[in-house]
Amino acid sequence: MSNSIPKTMTAWRQNAYGGPESLTRAEVPVPQPGEGEVLIKIGATSLNGADIRIMRGDPKLVRLGSGMRGPKEKIRGKDVAGTIVAVGPRVFGRSVGDRVVGELPGGGLAEFVVAYSSKLSTIPSGVDDKIAATLPLAGGTAWQALESVNTDRGASVLIIGAGGGVGTFTVNLATWAGAHVHALCSPRAIETVAALGAERVDDRTATSTESLASDDYDVIVDLGGVVPLRELRRLVRDGGDVVEVAMGGNSVVGPLGRAIGSQAMSTWSKKHLRPLLATKRPGLTKTLLDLVASGEITPHIDREVPLDSADQAIKALDDGEVVGKILVVPGS
Ligand SMILES: NC(=O)c1ccc[n+]([C@@H]2O[C@H](COP(=O)([O-])OP(=O)(O)OC[C@H]3O[C@@H](n4cnc5c(N)ncnc54)[C@H](OP(=O)(O)O)[C@@H]3O)[C@@H](O)[C@H]2O)c1
Repeated sequence: MSNSIPKTMTAWRQNAYGGPESLTRAEVPVPQPGEGEVLIKIGATSLNGADIRIMRGDPKLVRLGSGMRGPKEKIRGKDVAGTIVAVGPRVFGRSVGDRVVGELPGGGLAEFVVAYSSKLSTIPSGVDDKIAATLPLAGGTAWQALESVNTDRGASVLIIGAGGGVGTFTVNLATWAGAHVHALCSPRAIETVAALGAERVDDRTATSTESLASDDYDVIVDLGGVVPLRELRRLVRDGGDVVEVAMGGNSVVGPLGRAIGSQAMSTWSKKHLRPLLATKRPGLTKTLLDLVASGEITPHIDREVPLDSADQAIKALDDGEVVGKILVVPGS
């Protein structure tokens, strides 16, 4: 590695599942890129609901993937943007100095991270690292929630819990596609969600879905996971879809019961309940980068926090204080 790369870096490590207090600031070795990998100097990391789930190991089902005794990946932070500073063996088509973004298994709450080159997208010159870092997981999930349902011009779309990372992208993308969006969100998010294009925005803490008319929506995207499935089914038209992004559930198996219920209720029904399992898609991140570069969508950044205070950023997200996205920015 080049001499300008330090031997150690600041990172927030987590040895045991728990709340934000389980993260500890530490000085750790800068990782070295292996075969097919690059070393990224991080420009910005955006936090997601998924970071909270892994931090807490909640529901317990996630521990089958993230580690039974504690998180296998010790550093939270999946959505990372920055500049390549070293390239490992057998990396083709990328060089030191390239700016890249991607959804990683973790490692973002640090100054440097290694990533497989093939999982990254190149950031176009008109997009800065902070905006790019908002896109892979939250923007990618919103896109996947909408891609197999009808959001054509004129479709009516209800978005429940529209004020978070995935929610704000869902409002933005559905509006961009030409749909009429009705959003339910927490009071602090109302102004932002309206500015992103929702035609009607209601305070979800004061508006029960029971007050909404039956068979009124072509699509419902649910980011809360608490409205009963029968109620969601009542609100959507015949031929329409309910996309369950957050599926609630208990602390052991999480959304599994609700997913099985959705399957059962959709059989022989003209109303489709669709649990979503979003996947990492670098090609989709590229599409979102292009939409941002051309000004067609605008990620909403609530705030930026320096790396030294990353535990406070995680706490703000865990406490439900964030509208849109929160960033951790090394060197700020
Ligand atoms: N299925 C998948 O593949 C997939 C992928 C990514 C994320 N997710 C899930 O999607 C959800 C959002 O993720 P995120 O990264 O956007 O997290 P986030 O930025 O922390 O946003 C969470 C949002 O959820 C909404 N919410 C919370 N409790 C609610 C309730 N009782 N009723 C309605 N809405 C509620 C809130 O919206 P308001 O501010 O409007 O109240 C909140 O802002 C999380 O549950 C996450 O686990 C699922």
